[in-house]
Amino acid sequence: MPTFSTSPGTRDILPPQAGRWRAFTSVFADVVESAGYECVIPPMFEELGVFLRLGDATDVVTKEMYDFEDKGGRHIALRPEHTAGICRAFAQHRPTTPWKVWYSGSNFRYEKAQAGRYRQFDQVGIEVLGPSDPLLDVEVIALGWHFFAALGLKNVDLAVNSLGDPGDRAAYIDALSAYLNSRSAELSEEARLTLQKNPLRVLDSKREQDASVIADAPTIGAFLSDDARAHFDAVTSGLSLLGIPFRVTRGLVRGLDYYQRTVFEFVSTSLDNAQTAIGGGGRYDGLVEDLGGPSTAGVGFALGVDRTLLACDSESVFAAPSSGVDVFVIDVVDGMTAVRLTEVIRAAGYRADRAFDGRSMKSQMKSADRAGARLAVIIGADEAEAGTCTIRDLLTSEQSVVLQSEILQHISLILGERTPRRATL
Ligand code: HAM
Repeated sequence: MPTFSTSPGTRDILPPQAGRWRAFTSVFADVVESAGYECVIPPMFEELGVFLRLGDATDVVTKEMYDFEDKGGRHIALRPEHTAGICRAFAQHRPTTPWKVWYSGSNFRYEKAQAGRYRQFDQVGIEVLGPSDPLLDVEVIALGWHFFAALGLKNVDLAVNSLGDPGDRAAYIDALSAYLNSRSAELSEEARLTLQKNPLRVLDSKREQDASVIADAPTIGAFLSDDARAHFDAVTSGLSLLGIPFRVTRGLVRGLDYYQRTVFEFVSTSLDNAQTAIGGGGRYDGLVEDLGGPSTAGVGFALGVDRTLLACDSESVFAAPSSGVDVFVIDVVDGMTAVRLTEVIRAAGYRADRAFDGRSMKSQMKSADRAGARLAVIIGADEAEAGTCTIRDLLTSEQSVVLQSEILQHISLILGERTPRRATL
C-alpha cells in the first residue's frame, strides 16, 4: 500500500481522462464565446461572508463549507460554487453591463462522497450581470442546451420554474410551511427536521413516505405577482420559439437561496444513480446588491463536469480525444540526432516523441507503438553517417530512406501540413 492516497471525495483525473476534461472545457468555451461571453478566473477562496448569502439554512452553508481561519486571522472559505465570487468581483470592479462571463474550475463541498457527488468537483458555467430581460434567461438556458447537444448527449431533460419575486416567495414559503406543519405527522423524521430549517427543501425529499404530502402541497404558481408571471411566460415562449423542449416543474426550488424568478435544471435521464442533475441555474437579481454592489440583475448556470462526463459515458458519447503522437523518432546511435529531429518536427506543428536511456531498436519500436505514432523516423549507424533516416509508416509498413534535412517534406506528404508551433532556433 502507498503511504498516501487521495482524500474521500477527491480523485486524480489521469490521462486519457484529463485530456477529455480539457476537451470538455474547450467545447464549452467555443459554444459560449460564440455568444459573446468572456472568460473570468476568480480566486478559489474568498472571505466566508461572500458565500453566506447562498442561504443560512442551506446545506451548502451549514454543513458543507470548507472554511477556516488563515494565518492572518481572516475567516476564509474554499468556494462551494462560482456565482457569489463572480458577483463579488462585479461589485469590486464595476465592469460595464451587460457583463457576460464564463468560467471553469473546482468547487469544494463537504458532502457525503458517492458516485457523481464529490467534495472537490468541477463546474463550467456562465453568468450575465445587468439585464433583467427574460429573453436573456432564454439565451442562457439555450446555451446550456446547445452545449449538451455539442457533446452528443441526447437524454437530457430541462425543468423550469419561477420562484417569483422575493415577496411572492416569502408568501409562498408561509403557505407551504403552514401546509407542511398541518401534515407533519405523516412526514419522515428527516423531512420534519428540514421543515423547521427550510420548508422549500422538503419538496426535494426523495423519500417515499413524503411523496403524498409533497404531491398535495401548494405550488408557487398561484403566488406569482403579475410581473413575475409575465417574465416567466416570456421565458417559456422564448424556449418554445427555439424549439427547446422543457417541462414546467412547480416543485423545482434549487438548493441555494439567492434565486428569484427563473430557475432551471438539466437532468440526465441516462444516469441511474441518485445524482442525475447535470446542471442548474437561474436568476439572482438581489445578489450583487447583497454583496455591497449596485442593484444589478443577474442570471446564469453551472454544469457539473464530473456528472456530465458520467452522462456521456452512459450514452457512449464524447470519448477521450486520441492522445497519440504523429511521429516517434528512434535513434539507436547516441540519441543526438533524435534530440535535433524531434525539435524540428515539433516546431513544424506535429506531435513528436522519442525514447530515452539508450534502449534497443526493438524496445524503441514498442514505445513508438505504445505512443500511438503513425510514423517512425529511424536513425541507425548507416543513416547517421549518411545524414539520412528511414521513415516508416506504421499503418501501411511502407518505408523509405530520406535525407534528414528533407524530413518535414516527407512527413507532410503522409500527414499533411500542420500549423507551425514556433520558429526553430
Ligand atoms: P448547483 O445546483 O449547486 O448550482 O450546482 C450546479 C451543478 O454542479 C449540479 O447540477 C451538479 O451537476 C454539479 N454539482 C454540485 N455539487 C456537486 C458535487 N458535490 N459533486 C459533483 N457535482 C456537483 C450552483 O452551483 C449555482 N452556482 C449555479 C448557478 C450559476 N446559478 C446561477 N448561476
